[in-house]
Amino acid sequence: MIDLENVSGLPISLDERTNSLVSKKLELPQPSVRTLGDLTKVARNRELKVDAGEIAYWMYRDIALPQHRPLIAKYSLRFDITVMKNFLLGDEYGKTSGHYHPNFYPEIYGVLYGKAIYISQKSSENDPLKVEVFTATEVEPYGLWVSPPMHGHTTINKEPQTLVMANWVSNKFQSLYGPMESARGAAYHLVKTEKGPRWIPNPTYKSIPKKITKNKLTPPINSPIYTQGIQKIEKLSQFLNPQT
Ligand SMILES: [Fe+2]
Repeated sequence: MIDLENVSGLPISLDERTNSLVSKKLELPQPSVRTLGDLTKVARNRELKVDAGEIAYWMYRDIALPQHRPLIAKYSLRFDITVMKNFLLGDEYGKTSGHYHPNFYPEIYGVLYGKAIYISQKSSENDPLKVEVFTATEVEPYGLWVSPPMHGHTTINKEPQTLVMANWVSNKFQSLYGPMESARGAAYHLVKTEKGPRWIPNPTYKSIPKKITKNKLTPPINSPIYTQGIQKIEKLSQFLNPQT
């Protein structure tokens, strides 16, 4: 059992054997899942054969301590935790399906366990297949990362261990999965090779930047992500609901 209370601010642990979140003090929501079958839509290999029912990651949406629930709702926010096991999609490292947010909504992620590579990409206004900025940023426990407004984003776990990450996000929008699905993932795929991890351009895109940069946007809160979000909820909501 891996205690995640210090890093998250919530009385939760990871059960490593089952990759489930557990808590004696907090009632956790039933997670929704993404399977390897779901992820074949964004895999670089169109012919990829997988065990379609195998779960790749678990999404616990809208977690809150009971006393904070009205506050979080009042500020139109949601706190989620994703548990992503180590897996491969063919020769690609395991990743989330990836999506864009409508309008100007950003998102704040915090790594609770393992190590994440957060990808964000900005497409040209008229053509989602022309990518102008591509970032990849490695984040470790206690580290936070901001998915910038108007970017698509996805998360890669190339480590042998499970990745646990939390996010604060507006509850006012639905993510857009279509562009990443029709492009078969982000502008670069991170592929496992004999010489180590390698970024390979995704040929579906018409243009992509030659340079992969780091995204160093600063979030309005620090770690622990849950506690800090509650303490600075007004500032957090202004950041995550920028049009209101
Ligand atoms: Fe998102």
